[in-house]
Amino acid sequence: MEALNIGVIGLRKGMQHVQNFNASPDANTIAVCDSNAEKLKQVSSEYPDALACTDYKEMLGMADLDAVAVALPNHLHAPVTIDFLRAGKHVLCEKPMAMNAVEAESMKTEAEKNGLTLMLHFNMRFMSIGATLKPLVDRGRFGNIYHVNTTYTRRNGYPHPGSWFGKKEESGGGPLIDLGVHRLDLGLWLMGYPRPVSVSGANYACLAEKKLAGVDFDCEDFSAAFIRFENGASLYLASSWDAHQETAAEVTMKMYGTDAAAFEHNMNLTVCSSIGGEEEPDIEHLTPKESEETPQQHFINSIHNRTTPGPSAEHGVIIMRIIDAIYESARTGREVCFSEEEGEDKNSVKHV
Ligand SMILES: NC(=O)c1ccc[n+]([C@@H]2O[C@H](COP(=O)([O-])OP(=O)(O)OC[C@H]3O[C@@H](n4cnc5c(N)ncnc54)[C@H](O)[C@@H]3O)[C@@H](O)[C@H]2O)c1
Repeated sequence: MEALNIGVIGLRKGMQHVQNFNASPDANTIAVCDSNAEKLKQVSSEYPDALACTDYKEMLGMADLDAVAVALPNHLHAPVTIDFLRAGKHVLCEKPMAMNAVEAESMKTEAEKNGLTLMLHFNMRFMSIGATLKPLVDRGRFGNIYHVNTTYTRRNGYPHPGSWFGKKEESGGGPLIDLGVHRLDLGLWLMGYPRPVSVSGANYACLAEKKLAGVDFDCEDFSAAFIRFENGASLYLASSWDAHQETAAEVTMKMYGTDAAAFEHNMNLTVCSSIGGEEEPDIEHLTPKESEETPQQHFINSIHNRTTPGPSAEHGVIIMRIIDAIYESARTGREVCFSEEEGEDKNSVKHV
């Protein structure tokens, strides 16, 4: 296949995109952009052949540019993605897809209108737990999955206090939209993306109120949510930037199926079955293995093969609808129900 010419906008997390694209024989990074001139200079010295700019609009008119990765603060995901899609470029967009489902839907519509690939960087699917469990799920190892309990909680893990991460107008929210979004996608993907029917959520900022006094911060520091799906399955999600806990981070999943369950705890994975009713369950310790395909290679392959990428715009929109509904439920103290229409919710929630 002919190598694709790639641009990367936002050069912190974006550097992983640069590295993974350049590690592929099917892509070259030909442009890099960051509004921070110092950072841009530093990256540009490592990649002297790439065009370097502080304003991404300079990249819109590059005829030889095929695709971009957008790794900017969350409030810029929708406008920048839409600008590149209008300029005829495929987009790999960082998570969360957008600030809310309304923005996410407009990104999806723009990609469809222009016949372009829009993929979300839900990279946990490609990491060891996702890559190890999904083939087992697809082979029917767990039977029907009826409940997932998943967490991504940090102790004192505020990303750069005082930065855009803690300002709702720029981030869309706290750990729910930042960390929970990964676990939500992973859980739904393993469950086969069942249609959500209702969401109940509660958000807190108890520790932030004490620890971040005087810092510009208006997000939750802890979020808990319960989601019901049309097929009767359910999912519990907890995410935090701060919580009293032993470890710096607790990344866990308990996935219950009719034939077996999977337990993930900070990269350890076991599959457990007690189907025979024995006193001792049948326990298998798995060696988690990362996907051989990076998210960037998956994006390239999807463009070349004209296939819908795994972490699709459609999945991104569903995740944003659930996130919106959790924020709305937490705000009102009431459950939010979705209508029969695929993805459309009764309240048309727009939390930011
Ligand atoms: N998938 C993951 O595992 C993962 C991990 C970290 C971050 N992220 C996501 O990546 C995105 C970026 O996060 P980050 O941690 O790199 O943030 P960051 O604030 O550390 O870096 C953002 C970069 O974008 C630049 N920037 C800001 N506004 C710009 C503009 N208008 N034009 C050009 N450059 C601009 C900044 O100078 C900075 O270098 C966020 O959406 C975040 O959620 C994803």
